[in-house]
Amino acid sequence: MRIDNNVMPVRAISCAPFTDQRMGTAGLRKKVRVFQQPHYLETFLQAVLDTLQLPPGSTLVLGGDGRYFNREALQTLIRMTAAAGVRHLVVGQDGLLSTPAASNLIRMRKAHGGFLLTASHNPGGPDGDFGIKFNMANGGQAPQAITDAVFRASQALRGYRIAELPVIDLSRCGTQQHGPLRVEIVDPVADYQQLMERLFDFGRMADWVKAGNRVVFDAFHGITGPYARRILADTLGCAMADLLHTNPLPDFGGLHPDPNPVEGRHLVELCAGAAAPALAAASDGDGDRNMILGPACPVSPGDSLAIMLAGAALIPGYRQGVPGVARSMPTSRAVDRVAADLRIPCFETPTGWRFFCNLLEAGRIGLCGEESFGTGSSHAREKDGLWAVLFWINLLAVRSEPLPEVVAAHWRRYGRHYFQRHDYEIADAAHGTDLMEDLRSRLGSLPGSDLGIARVDLADDFHYHDPVDGSESPHQGIRIVLDGGARLVYRLSGTGTSGATLRIYLEKFEDNPAMLDCSPDEALRPLGKLAAHLAAIEAHAGLTQPTLVV
Ligand code: G1P
Ligand code: ZN
Repeated sequence: MRIDNNVMPVRAISCAPFTDQRMGTAGLRKKVRVFQQPHYLETFLQAVLDTLQLPPGSTLVLGGDGRYFNREALQTLIRMTAAAGVRHLVVGQDGLLSTPAASNLIRMRKAHGGFLLTASHNPGGPDGDFGIKFNMANGGQAPQAITDAVFRASQALRGYRIAELPVIDLSRCGTQQHGPLRVEIVDPVADYQQLMERLFDFGRMADWVKAGNRVVFDAFHGITGPYARRILADTLGCAMADLLHTNPLPDFGGLHPDPNPVEGRHLVELCAGAAAPALAAASDGDGDRNMILGPACPVSPGDSLAIMLAGAALIPGYRQGVPGVARSMPTSRAVDRVAADLRIPCFETPTGWRFFCNLLEAGRIGLCGEESFGTGSSHAREKDGLWAVLFWINLLAVRSEPLPEVVAAHWRRYGRHYFQRHDYEIADAAHGTDLMEDLRSRLGSLPGSDLGIARVDLADDFHYHDPVDGSESPHQGIRIVLDGGARLVYRLSGTGTSGATLRIYLEKFEDNPAMLDCSPDEALRPLGKLAAHLAAIEAHAGLTQPTLVV
C-alpha cells in the first residue's frame, strides 16, 4: 500500500459505546475475550485519544509485555494513533518493552506519552487477561482526573477513526516511513541498561559475582527475560543456567507471572536448602515487580524498601541521599522508622504507583514502594523489578555480608514489622462491596473498644490529600490501628477482572530481640483471625479461609 507523504488515509467507523471501560488501579484490565469483541479495543483507544488531545505531530512510545493479543492490539494502536495525528512512534522490537523501560523511554525521548500493553502479573493466554495503560509525558501513569475523563468520553462515543496502513513489521530495529508516520523500532534493553549503569557500580557487582556469589533469577516467561540475559548474564557474569524462563511467551508458558512466595515457591524452596544462592529473585509479566530472597531468608517487600533506604548512601545513584520516601498505605511501616532516623519525610499514599509520581516529579521523594512486591525510585515513574534486583546486588557487594545477616542486622537496629496479606476471592462482587460498607458503617464505634488482643486506637477510611497538586482521593481503604502498634487494613482490589478480591493487610511490630525470628504465620495468626471476624467474612461471602496468603 502506498501512502501519500502528507496525507494519512483515515476511515471513520460508527459503533455504540461500551459501558464498562473504567480504568482501575493500573489502566483498563479485562479478559482477553472482552478486548477481542469487535470495536472494544478501538473505542477505548479513541476515548483515550479524544481525552488527551495530543498536539499534531506528537511522538508516542508503544510496547508491551508480550502477552497474548499484544501483537494484534499493537497494530490497531499504531493505526489509531496515526489517525489521531501522531507522527512519530517509538516501538520496542517485536512490540516488547518492560513497564519501567517504557517509562524511561518516554522521558528520554521527550515523548508526549506512551501506551503500555500489559495486565502486569495477571495470567495470559486466550483465556487470560489483557490490559492497556496510558502513561503521560513524565513517564508516569495517567492521573485520576484523566482516567475519569476517559471513562466519560467512552460513554459518549459514537465511533472511532482508524488509519489505513499495512501491517507494520516490528521485528527489525530501524526506522520506517509510512506516509507522514515515522515508526522507529528500538532495542528494548539498550536505553534501560544505560540507565542502570549510571545508577549502580557494575564493576563492583561483577567482581562480587565473580567471587562466587550466585544469583538465580526467574522471569516467568514475561518481559524481563531479555533484560536479565543482557544485564545479569552478559554484563555482570551471572550464569545463564541460573536465569529461568527467560523467553517471553504469549501465555507465559502457563505460569502465573506473579513474583510472590506462592508463585515463586520453587525459589523459596531452593533458598531453604543447602544449595541456596546468595540471592534469588523474580519479576512479573511486565517487569515492574520484584521478589528478593537469600539463604533461608525471604525478604518482605516492606523490609526490602526499608533496607534499601537504610543502605541508599552506599549506592552510586543515591549517594547524595534521598529527599524523602513514600509507601502505599497498606505497606508495612518499617520504612517509616528508617526515614525518622534519617530525618527525612515519609509519605503515605493510596495503593497504586501513580500516587508516587507527583512526589517523584516534585523532587520530594527518592525511593518508594508497595507491599505488593513493587519498589522504585526517581529513575523512572513506574516501579522497577530488575532495578530492585540490581540495587540488592550492589548493596550486598558493598556490604560484603550475606543477605540474611543484612536483614537480621536491620531488625536488631530498627525492630521487625511482621507483615502478611490475606486475599479473599469473593465470587459475587456485590458481596465484597456490602462487606466493606458494613465495616465502614461500624468504624465510628470502634475506637476505644477492646478487641480481645488489644484496644482500638484509630479506625478510619483512608483519605489522601496530594500535597503536590492538592487533589483528594477518599475511600482508599479501612485502617484499624491497635494499641501497641499492630494494624489491620482492608480494601478491595482494583485490578481484578471478575468478582471481588478483598485484601486484608496484617502488621505487627516487634522489638523484643528474642522475638525477631518467628515465622509471619505464627506471629500474625491471632491478628488474621481477628481480621476475618471483624469483617464478618464468612457471613458476607461464605469464606472461612483466605484464598491466598503472601
Ligand atoms: C495491585 C496492588 C497494588 C499495585 C497494583 C498494580 O492493585 O495491590 O499495590 O500497584 O496491583 O501492580 P490492587 O489489585 O490491590 O488494586
Ligand atoms: Zn507488573
